[in-house]
Amino acid sequence: MSRVLEVTNLEGGYDSVQILYGIDMYVDDGEFVTIIGPNGCGKSTLIKTIFGIATFYNGKIEYRGESVSRWRTDQLVNHGIAYVPQVDNVFPSLSVMENLQMGGNKLSTTILNNRIDKSLKMFPDLQNRLFDLAASLSGGERQMLAISRALISDPKFLLLDEPTAALSPLYQQQIIERIDSLREEGITILIVEQNARLSLARSDRGYIMSNGKIVHSGDAKTILDDPEIGEYFLGSTGH
Ligand SMILES: Nc1ncnc2c1ncn2[C@@H]1O[C@H](COP(=O)(O)OP(=O)(O)OP(=O)(O)O)[C@@H](O)[C@H]1O
Ligand SMILES: [Mg+2]
Repeated sequence: MSRVLEVTNLEGGYDSVQILYGIDMYVDDGEFVTIIGPNGCGKSTLIKTIFGIATFYNGKIEYRGESVSRWRTDQLVNHGIAYVPQVDNVFPSLSVMENLQMGGNKLSTTILNNRIDKSLKMFPDLQNRLFDLAASLSGGERQMLAISRALISDPKFLLLDEPTAALSPLYQQQIIERIDSLREEGITILIVEQNARLSLARSDRGYIMSNGKIVHSGDAKTILDDPEIGEYFLGSTGH
């Protein structure tokens, strides 16, 4: 299996505020990998540093064998990486269609329309809402739009930051299933999730962060079955 992402000894943060300390992690082609950890431990910062929007200090970020440390976001997008932010991931005052179009404003009309069609096939719930304002969507529909928008660049590697936050359990399940099915389109998934059990159940592997460091990593099933990890990181509901 070929390596999509390899992060080695990464130090990062926001200007002079260091948040990440010596992060080592990887994602292989076709994998679904989940990062979990308590609020404020640096999960979003890790994803943002990989995507070139937080400050890279030191270490190495490699994408398909090529060093992409300090690359700009648009360069990463051109190389097949897309990112769905935790907050503010749609333009509420634009329609669903306009949001999708914004995801590919550098593409020719033909390619853009094809990509929008393909995206809507993966998220058919949006089909009837195309000319409604994004502000009028439910939380779940909004997340679907945010993911669809990211798909317009035809990514091969998708970074998602808490796509199920604040959704009803039904929508949480649905969104995670849809994300999982993106693997059938050849998209590799790296996701940050608060709903750790839900996401790990679909994952190949998981990483646990605490205080800006990776404190545990392993096979998703092993993490789910580890009683000690369950008690501290996965919530108390059990299986
Ligand atoms: N733009 C910023 N400038 C400075 N510090 C920031 C900035 N954004 C976040 N931080 C700080 O970085 C630390 C890590 O935040 P981060 O958002 O990565 O955590 P998280 O694990 O994603 O948390 P959550 O689960 O709440 O989303 C926190 O202490 C936060 O206050
Ligand atoms: Mg976060």
